[in-house]
Amino acid sequence: MKNVKLCTLLTEEEIKKKIEELGRKISEDYSNSSPLLIGVLKGAWIFMADLVRAITVPVRCDFLQVSSYGQATESSGVVKIITDLKSSITNEDVILVEDIVDTGLTLRYIIDYLSIRHPKSIKICALLDKPERHKINIKIDYLGFTVPNKFVVGYGIDYQELYRNLPYIGYVELEE
Ligand code: IMP
Ligand code: MG
Repeated sequence: MKNVKLCTLLTEEEIKKKIEELGRKISEDYSNSSPLLIGVLKGAWIFMADLVRAITVPVRCDFLQVSSYGQATESSGVVKIITDLKSSITNEDVILVEDIVDTGLTLRYIIDYLSIRHPKSIKICALLDKPERHKINIKIDYLGFTVPNKFVVGYGIDYQELYRNLPYIGYVELEE
């Protein structure tokens, strides 16, 4: 029987500080506009909740729910839109808020999916990036942290729907 051991990768303090930085940068870049933040559910909801409170310009929020893995831990690139946006994004300055960029395939699909609705601009804000795993070229405009090639959990990010409620980000290690 294997025990699950959780190792800390990023503490609550580190995450908080980084989100304040991201919020400041976004507020400066959008000082003359009111961006529409689109959170990708479910993984990005806690990040997005903290991020919007670190932004000082008026923002609007919407959410998109996608599923890319099913029960697998590897992205297939086949993304299903489970819940679509409630708002129109035509002519909007969109900031797409993601929890983690792994292969980049989910993000690529979502960007293409949103682009056909003609937003004025689309920028990407991701809390975590695993560059070693990218399968395609993705430009992240606002990035929290680069993380090693480990399966991470916490702060909204799950392993089979568990661990989203951890206030920090860790990775799972299986012990004999
Ligand atoms: P991608 O399409 O491979 O970039 O994967 C994107 C999605 O897979 C992310 O938005 C996460 O929801 C999920 N994901 C990728 N890596 C991890 C991980 O290390 N832990 C938990 N979920 C992950
Ligand atoms: Mg995600």
